[in-house]
Amino acid sequence: MGTVVWWLVMVVVVAVHSASAAVIEEKWEVEYTFWWPDCKEGIVMAINGQFPGPTINAVAGDRVIIHVTNKLSTEGVVIHWHGIHQIGTPWADGAAGVTQCAINPGETFTYNFTVDKAGTHFYHGHYGMQRSAGLYGMLIVRSPKETLRYDGEFNLLLTDWWHQSIHSQELALSSRPMRWIGEPQSLLINGRGQHNCSQAAYFTKGGMTQCTFKQNDQCAPQTLRVQPNKVYRLRIASSTALATLNLAVEGHKLEVVEADGNYVAPFTVSDIDIYSGETYSVLLKTHSTPSKNHWISVGVRGRKPNTPQALTLLNYINTPNSNNPTKPPPVTPRWDDYDRSKTFSKKILAAKGYYPPPPEKSHDQLILLNTQNLINNYTKWAINNVSLSVPATPYLGSIKYGLKSAYDLKSPGKTFTNDYDIMKPPANPNTNKGSGIYNFPLGIVVDVILQNANVLKGRISEIHPWHLHGHDFWVLGYGEGKFRRGIDEKRFNLKNPPLRNTVVVYPYGWTALRFVTDNPGVWFFHCHIEPHLHMGMGVVFAEGVNRIEKMDIPDEALGCGLTRKWLMDRGRR
Ligand code: C2O
Ligand code: CU
Repeated sequence: MGTVVWWLVMVVVVAVHSASAAVIEEKWEVEYTFWWPDCKEGIVMAINGQFPGPTINAVAGDRVIIHVTNKLSTEGVVIHWHGIHQIGTPWADGAAGVTQCAINPGETFTYNFTVDKAGTHFYHGHYGMQRSAGLYGMLIVRSPKETLRYDGEFNLLLTDWWHQSIHSQELALSSRPMRWIGEPQSLLINGRGQHNCSQAAYFTKGGMTQCTFKQNDQCAPQTLRVQPNKVYRLRIASSTALATLNLAVEGHKLEVVEADGNYVAPFTVSDIDIYSGETYSVLLKTHSTPSKNHWISVGVRGRKPNTPQALTLLNYINTPNSNNPTKPPPVTPRWDDYDRSKTFSKKILAAKGYYPPPPEKSHDQLILLNTQNLINNYTKWAINNVSLSVPATPYLGSIKYGLKSAYDLKSPGKTFTNDYDIMKPPANPNTNKGSGIYNFPLGIVVDVILQNANVLKGRISEIHPWHLHGHDFWVLGYGEGKFRRGIDEKRFNLKNPPLRNTVVVYPYGWTALRFVTDNPGVWFFHCHIEPHLHMGMGVVFAEGVNRIEKMDIPDEALGCGLTRKWLMDRGRR
């Protein structure tokens, strides 16, 4: 079946279900609050006084209406629904400067969208570095006809946590010279971690002190209480600012069944790698004769770790919660064993029959070179020599109202110069700021090759997990070194590539993906590492511009920059 036909089938499925679709309506207040995420007092961005924010539980086809009131005293806020495609509602995507104006202090903005597709998703702040401040929560969309069989489920939202405030972090990153924020102080599982003690200290002589928790301690781990001989679905999402994580459950295997809301051909592993922006479901079968509790451990990979593992317990129902596991927590695989990481990534393939293979040919190709650069000695990240600077007027509004001075009308390059040596620091470290975007007509097939390179200094290339808003894409392949145009395309997996919304680019390598421009709107595509995005590591895709011009967009989304003036001139503001 052609992609377009499949797409129509999906639309019909959603439409049929919506006859019985529920409406989930909530009022959220976002504010800073004191909290002890890792047993040390800090400040988090809470929603209705909760950290992490409330979990949304929906069924595919449901309508979600969230009235977000900004109770922060001095800064704007937005919320992005990561994994939701916002078909017909690009203004509800929650990317500040791209799809809407930040909500001002004291104001309320209403997000109103359909959760088009089942899966394990999450939501988070998308203004400045507010995601790092703890503005996140789970968004679970169930399928009305779930084909996986399991007896219970748990959500695991994984994040990393710094003791330095995000305002200080933002300033440090945009200082000259740049002050790097370093590795996180702790890792959090559902917003809980331990900084000054370890639950597993009794295995190690000296060093860390053994944790003791009082009831209601905000840093006490949430244990997963399970029954023997059952299958549990662990829905795992990573909203880390920086860290790549590895999760393992001592003495248990994990069967990977879902990635970013799409079923994958099931495979069994002892642990999973998860990059920022990714989600997975794994099935875990509990032992039949349990007499012990087991560790669930989360550790850092992909960067030299300086953060202790996060731990919690798989607690069998007849074993007291206080029984310590008799084995030490699983050791996180070596951080720089990239071959191991690649082996895991390459195991993720489409499950048969749930979604179509990609169209065989593409109509357009972007080759995006990721580089670390300087602008007047400020450290930046650039894509094809443009470091993104998001304009004051959201692109969606500039395009809808034809405000041509709101951003650079010239698009950034579709590729980079042939002679660029990705294995060395840039010959010319300097780059440029820009706000240009890529324009695509509706209904075409686009290939994007993400090309990694060496950083500014030393012989290092970093990991970048890239996330696309408004779409899923097929991951056609990964390769080492520089992408060879006209040659490497022949190695693309067109048979059973996985459909995802986030994909990793390995050091000194490339990653190829393909998507269909079937969703009129303006969509952010960026590295999901918060400091990298803050330093310009992203691009913007506009799709079906003539459709955007005719689209209904609430004035409330566009009360800033040049759109504000446009609305005021017409008495709408
Ligand atoms: Cu979860 Cu634009 O990202
Ligand atoms: Cu990055």
